[in-house]
Amino acid sequence: MIVIVDFGSQTTHLIARRLKEMSVSSTIVLPEKSLTVVAAQKPAGIILSGGPSSVYEKNAPLIDKKIFNTGIPILGICYGLQLITHVLGGKVTVGHKKEFGPARLRLTHASPLTEEIVPPSFVVWMSHADEVMKVPSGFMTAGKTDTIAHAYIFHPSKKIYGIQFHPEVIHTQFGEAILSNFATICGLSPHKKPLTKDEIVKLIQDIHDSVGASSRVICALSGGVDSSTAAVLVHKAIGMRLTAIYIDSGLMRKHETEELKNIFRAHFHMKIKIIRAGAIFLKALQGVVDPEKKRRIIGRTFIRVFEKEARKLRAQFLVQGTIYPDVIESAGTKHSHKIKTHHNVGGLPKNMHVTLLEPLRSFYKDEVRTIGTLLGLPSEIVDRQPFPGPGLAIRIIGNVTETKLKIVRGADHIIQEEIKKAHQTPLWPRQTWLWQIFAVFAGVRTTGVRGDQRAYGETIAIRAIEARDSMSARFARLPYDILDMIATRIVNEIPAVNRVVYDVTNKPPGTMEWE
Ligand code: XMP
Repeated sequence: MIVIVDFGSQTTHLIARRLKEMSVSSTIVLPEKSLTVVAAQKPAGIILSGGPSSVYEKNAPLIDKKIFNTGIPILGICYGLQLITHVLGGKVTVGHKKEFGPARLRLTHASPLTEEIVPPSFVVWMSHADEVMKVPSGFMTAGKTDTIAHAYIFHPSKKIYGIQFHPEVIHTQFGEAILSNFATICGLSPHKKPLTKDEIVKLIQDIHDSVGASSRVICALSGGVDSSTAAVLVHKAIGMRLTAIYIDSGLMRKHETEELKNIFRAHFHMKIKIIRAGAIFLKALQGVVDPEKKRRIIGRTFIRVFEKEARKLRAQFLVQGTIYPDVIESAGTKHSHKIKTHHNVGGLPKNMHVTLLEPLRSFYKDEVRTIGTLLGLPSEIVDRQPFPGPGLAIRIIGNVTETKLKIVRGADHIIQEEIKKAHQTPLWPRQTWLWQIFAVFAGVRTTGVRGDQRAYGETIAIRAIEARDSMSARFARLPYDILDMIATRIVNEIPAVNRVVYDVTNKPPGTMEWE
């Protein structure tokens, strides 16, 4: 077992997940508890996670120096590297340059952590403002980037390693090899073992046990892969005692409700109730500009509408398709910063009399896709692009109105049509696997010219991203011809729009959604 000390990184859980993928078990602990846990459990290795703090700040989460004398191999990632440096007498300061996103790591020394990694340099994913200026005594530098001199340091005899980049993030080349090498250094035998049907049977059994023999359950069904998978899991556990409720918030994409109704009718024998609540949501959002406020209002409105249904159905449980990134990005751990309030996390109002069931709370999107496929969900659902609970409201910068919704919905529909068409043509870059592509109403008006006349119209941004999980992303390198086709159709078919821009921001530093 490996102990992961959590300093509040957005990707701490991803470290645990990568280890799990190689059949290495781990436990995540807070820094203040780490020494006690290490003493009691005697782990094979210790990983110090990244985190939002600076080691030299007052109140920065630190770790007892004794941990470095236990003889247990240690890997520090990002903040973890800086912590090793700081605690063991090196020096960390604000970096010359902050780095967010891709960088090239150049290996300068061979070491067990990078064993069998052949290329002398490769792409790693960074997210830091501080850097190591002086390595502690006994350590040597084994890797650098164009920006930082000590991107990878290690102590050969003590088996302590520190890396500035994030090996747990899918966009780091050889990230998996680095974590696997660390597990080997710890004396473990890392090997792949895919998610099995047995684990799914266990999930179903757990739901059955939590719900009991007679309780009724309602499920918040959005039609996305998460809530659909959650619904099918619960359906398998308790059958017709589940009623799936689909709320049309009026913030949905074009034809979404009808399409979902048809898919679910064709594939499932589940009780489904559709509630059209667009007017309630729009009224609650009137005049609201702040993204976090929008998210909170939408979250509350969803819960209120559900509560009403729950009362009617006398349900005791409410199922939600919350997945792990929703939890972590809503500050699920003590030292992490809150990035955004995902609407399906954050607890229930005090007066709500249903208990939340979130069977997918510890899984990532691609794991959920595997579970969905093993449960027999159709590819229209399993391969569906993720669509956020707050819907188009967080793709409209500024206040949400019916007119703006119509514009962004129209632009989104054109994008989906063109992408579907482009997929069938030689124009499509075969190596591109889109996680999401969508339109954003940028809330910026600019000057244009139409039919020799001045036009003053809205801006639509196209956001297209490649990702394997929602923790990191690269903007998709779509060919100009495809973008041209989309942009031309948007300005021609939606008169209110006279400018289309392409978002070329990776995550980090950008998030996928604009709000
Ligand atoms: P961000 O914008 O946080 O998005 O980089 C990561 C992924 O999560 C989706 N997303 C949400 N999903 N409720 C959801 O169920 C939400 O409130 C929410 N906000 C973002 C987003 O579409 C992307 O796939």
